[in-house]
Amino acid sequence: MASDHPSAKAPAKTMLNLGNLPPKMKPQDMKLTQNQYPRTPSRVNPNQPPWPAYRGYHEYSFAHATMGVRLPTILGKAIDDVWKTLNQEYDEDKITDLIDCVHRMEDLMGDLQGNSKLRFIVDDGAGDVPLWNKEIAKFFRGKDFMNAPWLFAEAYKYRRLRECFSLSRYWVDYDVFFRQKCDTFSRSSQAVFELSTRFSEPQVLGPNLTEAEIKEKNKLIFLELTQVCLWGNSTDLSLLIDMTEEDIKKLQSTGGDHLAATEKNILGNDLHKLADYVSTIKNGRIDFVLDNAGFELYCDLVYADWLIQSGTCSQVIFHGKKLPWFVSDVTKKDWEWLLNSCTYGQLFGDAKDEEMESLRTLGRRWKQYEKEGKWKYEAHPFWCTGYTFWDLHSEAPDLFQYLSESNLVIFKGDLNHRKLTYDCHAPLTTPFPMAIGPLASEPGAPPICSLRTIKSDVVVGIPSGVGERLDEEEPGWKISGKYAVVLLSPGRSGEQPVYKSS
Ligand code: F6P
Ligand code: MG
Repeated sequence: MASDHPSAKAPAKTMLNLGNLPPKMKPQDMKLTQNQYPRTPSRVNPNQPPWPAYRGYHEYSFAHATMGVRLPTILGKAIDDVWKTLNQEYDEDKITDLIDCVHRMEDLMGDLQGNSKLRFIVDDGAGDVPLWNKEIAKFFRGKDFMNAPWLFAEAYKYRRLRECFSLSRYWVDYDVFFRQKCDTFSRSSQAVFELSTRFSEPQVLGPNLTEAEIKEKNKLIFLELTQVCLWGNSTDLSLLIDMTEEDIKKLQSTGGDHLAATEKNILGNDLHKLADYVSTIKNGRIDFVLDNAGFELYCDLVYADWLIQSGTCSQVIFHGKKLPWFVSDVTKKDWEWLLNSCTYGQLFGDAKDEEMESLRTLGRRWKQYEKEGKWKYEAHPFWCTGYTFWDLHSEAPDLFQYLSESNLVIFKGDLNHRKLTYDCHAPLTTPFPMAIGPLASEPGAPPICSLRTIKSDVVVGIPSGVGERLDEEEPGWKISGKYAVVLLSPGRSGEQPVYKSS
């Protein structure tokens, strides 16, 4: 249950005023409305997803636990982080400027706990402000943290957190989560070296293997690495706030037997379809829409390294975030930190020399890929808006156009999956291409794969009966991170994208 989760422990001051919420729906009314879904595309908008939205006041949902407990906990920890920084600062102007940031964070805490209405983002000169305020004006006027769709309210909280710093003089780029992101990577030594010692040497197959044998071997490596990349998503800081080193080890176990056993936890499983498709790509381009920094990013990089070495890709594009986002998501600073820590760092006190050398070899090779343009890190502002990816085509046509040129776009993690699927109450068996709407159906839509460990309510693309059984046997299966999906949409590659002129 959400309330049993370690991250669900309430800080002393977290109380929500729930007095202004709409009344709870009666089960009989919910049944009555079900045949109105999915909404026809012309009736879909950010406040009216294709199926009913999850909202913070739905007590049965993870949205409720998140809005009521997790977000205030995360914000409380962020305030503690700022105090730590402040205690190490000597310049008075910077200190007083940072205290103003804390005051803004306390105001945000008050708004969250008092369930305030969602106000416009203050114009801090950042390019994304018009996009945010247009969406608030058009769809969320008068909405508050609990009755706005969960996805929007949660994303809005992270943008408001940014505003606390972007209005400052000296702390515009301060990342309240940076310290935590670095910490979990340095506590992941076992899995880090398990991968570096296997992959630091270039992966050359043959010379006495036939082409068919190389193909088969590559497929097996691909299947295992895809799982490494997938399960790398289960160590997410926003959920595992009180994680011990032992917990991290269990989650990051990367051995072959373990992976075979975990494949049965992939409830919607297009892994083999994906492997077959990827084996047809030669010197192509694969895009990763990244999720979390640290260990998950490290797994992504090992995977991307293999995609280059196997000749599948000549280029891999990584899409990160412009702002500190949902605690652990990758920003440019996290990207650089990881590459430099692998190459030059001394994070792992007990490591053997050969382990450290294997990590340095990886770091040096990855930096070389970047220099040669084989790897590129990009951060389009659209990824840090409240829009779901159903609106990517209309709100960020430049990004759609760019993605349409890729052979495959891999979306990592839970939040990206929520955004792909509009984070709504779609039936569990909804086919993935249907659940992601325009990103599958628009001309030019690239092949899309979601690698996601299931950590929140929306689940699609799983066989009939599976969800019902888990509901009975394992309540909480949708937020435990124990289960996953690997889902593929073929898209409409090769067709010219079409954009409406407005
Ligand atoms: O706060 C909920 C959430 O958005 C969930 O999607 C998930 O629990 C977490 O935050 C982020 O997970 P991920 O890093 O996999 O997107
Ligand atoms: Mg994340």
